[in-house]
Amino acid sequence: MTSFNLDEFVGKLTDASRSANPAQQVRKLMDAAFADPQAIKSGTPDFEEDDVILFEDEKISIWHCRFQPDLHVPPHDHQTPAIIGLYEGTERNSFYEVESDQLVLKGSKDSKPGDVLTIGPEGIHSVEAVGDVPCVGIHVYLSSLTTIERSLFDWSSGAALPFTDENYDKMKKVDSIQ
Ligand SMILES: [Fe+2]
Repeated sequence: MTSFNLDEFVGKLTDASRSANPAQQVRKLMDAAFADPQAIKSGTPDFEEDDVILFEDEKISIWHCRFQPDLHVPPHDHQTPAIIGLYEGTERNSFYEVESDQLVLKGSKDSKPGDVLTIGPEGIHSVEAVGDVPCVGIHVYLSSLTTIERSLFDWSSGAALPFTDENYDKMKKVDSIQ
């Protein structure tokens, strides 16, 4: 098993965000690291919070994200490239386009530990964990995600709303416990 140090990895990603080709360089680092998802798990703290911002400035945002199995993250965009690597569980990303003000499901992908996914700035996706365990990964955005003006999209009508905590809480779906 290779060794993985989260602080060092965050430093390398941050350096890559200053390069001439940040999306490519970040993707390269993510592919190399996620080739050994077990090493990432061993080298990453068991964070109490589901969403942890590891680093953010105007060039890059690096999040540690855990999605609980009962949560369906509503469709949203990022307005910046997103590179998402998974090291535990199965994460289903569903992709949409807005056509005639309707949200149309275009496909979905189940990421397994070791998978890395790049989503373009205009991409719209919803996210859920598959099965009854959380999925856990590192999400990288090539801008300051908390300050970008981006959108959430109504599950059925496709209407766009500003991405705020309040709208997110209103639009997220949480399965009732059986
Ligand atoms: Fe997202």
